[in-house]
Amino acid sequence: MRKHIVAGNWKMNCNFNEADELVNGIMEILEEKELPRDTQLIVCPPFPYLEMTSDYANDSYFMVGAQNVSDQEKGAYTGEVSAEMLESMEIDYCIVGHSERRAYYGETNATVAAKVNQLLKHGLKPIVCVGEVLEEREANRQFDVVKQQVEEGLFHLTAEQMKEVVIAYEPVWAIGTGKTATPEQAQEIHHFIRTLLTEKYGKELADEISILYGGSCKPSNAKELFANADVDGGLIGGASLKADDFIAIAMSF
Ligand code: 13P
Repeated sequence: MRKHIVAGNWKMNCNFNEADELVNGIMEILEEKELPRDTQLIVCPPFPYLEMTSDYANDSYFMVGAQNVSDQEKGAYTGEVSAEMLESMEIDYCIVGHSERRAYYGETNATVAAKVNQLLKHGLKPIVCVGEVLEEREANRQFDVVKQQVEEGLFHLTAEQMKEVVIAYEPVWAIGTGKTATPEQAQEIHHFIRTLLTEKYGKELADEISILYGGSCKPSNAKELFANADVDGGLIGGASLKADDFIAIAMSF
């Protein structure tokens, strides 16, 4: 059966000392508390802290993910970080297509598809974000938007490749706003995404893919969100910056 995953997206937060403290804080708690066996914890710090974080990370505690990757293989792309670089540092996961990258850096579904290809080529697992903005939700267009994001970002993949992908549903109106999707709203879209996967790749594969919820997920609401049949964990922003909260969320299954 599919894994439960709780991934912390630190976004552009923490100086080096704060990052060091945060990773240490996570480790200290995990030395005392054991996570449920089928729960994978992932920490996604900014690029400069990947090495420090993966040095600390022992696979038995958590895995490490990047927040972005180049859509190009290598060469004259100043400021970019390639999938091959991440691979050579033994980074396991990478977030792709976060709504902040779509909104502020012009990422399209085609960019997402190219980045996913780079990651898979280099053995990293993409965490692909999808989700509608508020106006789309208000116009009841969330299904169309998410369908298009999933199809254009992922449906060029073979079944073998698709197995490596994690999907995160993050309704943009719930990100950093304190407004969480209700458990029913989350389950509705997660189930919709799994149905799309079933239609394209078959039920067996669709049942193996972890679909995470993101958007103001915190210790007080994680349990009721994760209790839904198609919600396999969370992509956590703000609450992943506090070691206690982050681990409390991971203990919420
Ligand atoms: P918040 O948990 O801060 O709402 O952020 C969610 C998110 O964007 C995770 O990628």
